[in-house]
Amino acid sequence: MFNLQGKVALVTGARRGMGRTHALALAAQGAKVVITDVDLNECELVADEVRAANGDVACFKLDVSNKTEVDNVFDEVVAKYGRLDILVNNAGIYESHPFLEMTEAEWDRTIDINLKGQFLCAQRAAREMAKNKWGRIINIASIASGGVGVGIGGGSVSPSMLSAPEQ
Ligand SMILES: NC(=O)c1ccc[n+]([C@@H]2O[C@H](COP(=O)([O-])OP(=O)(O)OC[C@H]3O[C@@H](n4cnc5c(N)ncnc54)[C@H](O)[C@@H]3O)[C@@H](O)[C@H]2O)c1
Repeated sequence: MFNLQGKVALVTGARRGMGRTHALALAAQGAKVVITDVDLNECELVADEVRAANGDVACFKLDVSNKTEVDNVFDEVVAKYGRLDILVNNAGIYESHPFLEMTEAEWDRTIDINLKGQFLCAQRAAREMAKNKWGRIINIASIASGGVGVGIGGGSVSPSMLSAPEQ
């Protein structure tokens, strides 16, 4: 489809689901892939799949809502590979509650992961990409955001996905 030899790609929320699929697809096109998520052991299982196909892969525990973790992981990636070319901002949650049952903590957690997390990772990635005057940042969103006039009934905060993740 296209050749990503020599490119370094980092995927957030990649231990399962769409993030895992993004990571495997990038590796299949020749990119060195950095698999990140809140559970490092599950990231390693995805990394094993990449290695089995002779891909170059690294794993890091990364909570995208934690700026210190974001800075540390991106520092380590650049130290290891010398560059970062592609970011897939995939990590996201969906707290599926009717508006009147939504708690402040659930609201804050959703905004921290789905919005602040994408901002922190995109800004840090863009700083690396600017050095090489090349980069691609792919932000995964949802029709549930209402941005295209569609929401999900019973979901008061819906910038994310259709089923809640177990963590
Ligand atoms: N599956 C769908 O139908 C659908 C539809 C629209 C949008 N999306 C979006 O696609 C993305 C992936 O969805 P999915 O269906 O694969 O869901 P998923 O729950 O399987 O994957 C989401 C991943 O994000 C990770 N995650 C959660 N909090 C995190 C945090 N603080 N830091 C880092 N990682 C964190 C989870 O551990 C999980 O691995 C999400 O952003 C979601 O909003 C999914």
